[in-house]
Amino acid sequence: MPTSPFPDTTPLPGKRPLRIGVAGVGVVGQGVIKYLSEHPDFAPAIGEVVVTAVSARDRYRKRDVDLTSYQWFDDPVALATSDAIDLFVELIGGSEGPAKAAVEAALALGRPVVTANKALLAIHGHALAKTAERTGAALLFEAAVMGGTPAVKMLREGLTGDQVDRVAGILNGTCNYILSEMEASGRSFAEVLSEAQAKGFAEADPTTDIGGFDAGHKITLLGALAFGAAPDFAAADVQGIEAVDLIDIRLAHDLGYRIKLIAEATRDGDFASVRVHPALTPLGHPLAQAGGSLNALFIEGRRIGRLFLQGTGAGQGPTAAAVAADIADYLAGGRRPVFQRPAVELQPLKPADHAKRTTAAYFRLRVHDHPGVIAAISDALARCELSIDSFLQRSVQPGGLVPIVLTTRPALETQIDAAVAAIAALDVVAEPPRMIRIAMI
Ligand SMILES: NC(=O)c1ccc[n+]([C@@H]2O[C@H](COP(=O)([O-])OP(=O)(O)OC[C@H]3O[C@@H](n4cnc5c(N)ncnc54)[C@H](OP(=O)(O)O)[C@@H]3O)[C@@H](O)[C@H]2O)c1
Repeated sequence: MPTSPFPDTTPLPGKRPLRIGVAGVGVVGQGVIKYLSEHPDFAPAIGEVVVTAVSARDRYRKRDVDLTSYQWFDDPVALATSDAIDLFVELIGGSEGPAKAAVEAALALGRPVVTANKALLAIHGHALAKTAERTGAALLFEAAVMGGTPAVKMLREGLTGDQVDRVAGILNGTCNYILSEMEASGRSFAEVLSEAQAKGFAEADPTTDIGGFDAGHKITLLGALAFGAAPDFAAADVQGIEAVDLIDIRLAHDLGYRIKLIAEATRDGDFASVRVHPALTPLGHPLAQAGGSLNALFIEGRRIGRLFLQGTGAGQGPTAAAVAADIADYLAGGRRPVFQRPAVELQPLKPADHAKRTTAAYFRLRVHDHPGVIAAISDALARCELSIDSFLQRSVQPGGLVPIVLTTRPALETQIDAAVAAIAALDVVAEPPRMIRIAMI
């Protein structure tokens, strides 16, 4: 029977504890099991919680938590649909495969789902929200963005009385750690990345993090919540940090900036720009000061002005705390649509026109040590109607090349792109210029 878009989260207080099935017993899954087994009454006013069943790939794998007292399922879909549980927690990860199949199966039955899976929701969130709405199931995902820092709750509940036009921040702790370490230690991207992998701060296959995709999934979700729109990861414009050189970090610092991977979603009427890219951020700005693996977020609302949120964006304890918060919300009977509006009304916003975006930019180039070089560069910028804001020239390097760095005043991104091409075409320039946007925050 079709139901209201607001999921029926009426719990079972005073009856039996809410029975939880956990699929995925890795970093986060083990944290959730540990926490709930040590604190079954963590939300004393609203009811008791007990893990009854689990699923993972390898039943005999050695883990930090003892799973022998829980019913084991080889198949997460069988767990999601089992009568042994009241609420399904998905902590497998990945946008397709078993995570998607199990979440779909639980929601189709009208069973509440709590997940930390940003990839799944950024890509299939609208379809999953429609299923949840049709069956009256809750679908909660606080842990999917900023780990233990309650960004989702803030947008979903705290700011519904305002119109939020922009969210922007640092949403991937691995990238933030790598950039911070490069600056602090003077080591290259490759060196810091392999150390981060050895310490377990970065995945063996780091593409999702360093390619900007993880931050892209998260900002897609925050944008959807902020604007009351369908999440649409395919429309996000994603660039990672692989091409950030140590020299850019140093030169940016000399100019008064720190390079950060910025994820931003901006709304302009029926249009939205959702993008992730490295950006020079003024040293005094709070986003520039969020170092190491911290996450940070600005939210701009018409009435509330600017909010700043900073905290741990990942890790076993914080992420398990966010999963527990969602379980408590479900128990407390909160009734809200998954992305602010009923899923049948949700539309993706149209992607903003790249030609209309503005930015200031940093250019690094290496030029031959000839008279007239500076005039040629200034002329190329003038032809694109770009004004120079600052200019740095370093001494001649071996091979006779001179490093030059300049920053521009804000201009249309099409002008910046044209300037990159115009400078690259100059005979005096040894290689195409490196361009990094300057954050407009
Ligand atoms: N780690 C964090 O700090 C963090 C923070 C925020 C959000 N998240 C999100 O939380 C989710 C889990 O992350 P994680 O770091 O805990 O991952 P993880 O340590 O790699 O754990 C993944 C778990 O899923 C299980 N699994 C994989 N394929 C399966 C299958 N076909 N059937 C059943 N189980 C399967 C694995 O089983 P085996 O153990 O048997 O191999 C493992 O227990 C992801 O969506 C991630 O993006 C993680």
